Amino acid sequence: MKLAFFSAKDFDRGAFDDYNARKGHEITYLAAHLNEESVGLAAGHDCVCVFVNDVLNAAVIDGLAALGVKLIAARSAGFNHIDLEAAKRNQIAVVRVPAYSPFAVAEHAVAMILTLNRKTHRAYTRVREGNFALDGLLGFDLHGKTIGVIGTGKIGQVFAKIMLGFGCEVLAYDVAPNFSVREMGVSYQPLADVLRKSDIVSLHCPLLAATHHMINADTLAKMKPGAMLINTSRGGLVDTPAVIEALKSGQVGALGLDVYEEEAELFFEDLSSQVLQDDVFARLLTFPNVLITGHQAFFTTEALQGIAMTTLDNVSEFETTGDSKNRIRGK
Ligand code: NAI
Repeated sequence: MKLAFFSAKDFDRGAFDDYNARKGHEITYLAAHLNEESVGLAAGHDCVCVFVNDVLNAAVIDGLAALGVKLIAARSAGFNHIDLEAAKRNQIAVVRVPAYSPFAVAEHAVAMILTLNRKTHRAYTRVREGNFALDGLLGFDLHGKTIGVIGTGKIGQVFAKIMLGFGCEVLAYDVAPNFSVREMGVSYQPLADVLRKSDIVSLHCPLLAATHHMINADTLAKMKPGAMLINTSRGGLVDTPAVIEALKSGQVGALGLDVYEEEAELFFEDLSSQVLQDDVFARLLTFPNVLITGHQAFFTTEALQGIAMTTLDNVSEFETTGDSKNRIRGK
């Protein structure tokens, strides 16, 4: 198939070109994000291959249909950026990568916890400047602490297992509790109880209408005072101005974000020479107890290879059969 590959980065090309040597698709790599301005670049292609900050609203999908595009191949697990109704209406199939490396994301969440707790980000710069003072670097033992996992799917399960390995008590909330997670020693409880009891809360559920701003002024007030909050899932799960207030009051003791609600304007680009226009994001950067990474939790060699393989297998399967086991069917 002919693929218009939007939001292409050099790291994508390596993994995709390697695997495509076996698949033989024609890939046009495009640096542009897919949106209403750039949709015309899909002309002459059967498929658009897209990432998390490409815009696939109804107008863009109508535009793709007018160009004869038959397939949207998402290089991600999450698909909250794709209007499935519009795709269905236009008879464009949507496929995704339901799992590549849950370890990549779970391990990144743990990296954020360890960094925020033991302040290794501050120690790194301090020691390089010859400052060996320990004031301000005090952490706590993870052993014996209570961890709340919101969403115990593929990533949440790996995360829970790692935290059990640290000797933590792990509580979980999920709309669909999983027996094998219980078997691991995790205790499912109502959301309010998980928030109230946990020293660290980590979000691993998808962004849906039901989960939009699930962390808000109300739920933040239910958390254990001074608890740490980690979000490696989707920015829209957290009401950022509310979390800023909670950081100011000390209700949230530390915050680790790999995702941000308005990240489409920022992440994956080098904006270091530009003036930051997002005042909410700028305020977050002023807190010493906030750690932000730019949607890099997935970013491991194994995950990139997995994404390339599943995406191109999805495209091949669709080309041969008109369907795919990784098709998102919507409602
Ligand atoms: P998954 O589909 O395996 O698991 C999601 C879990 O959330 C399921 O157990 C589901 O029952 C649960 N859930 C659904 N609605 C819920 C609700 N209202 N409250 C509590 N739990 C609810 O998904 P997976 O693979 O574990 O990924 C989780 C999320 O991680 C994805 O949706 C995606 O947004 C994010 N992600 C982030 C990446 C990054 O680089 N930062 C990379 C990959 C995924």
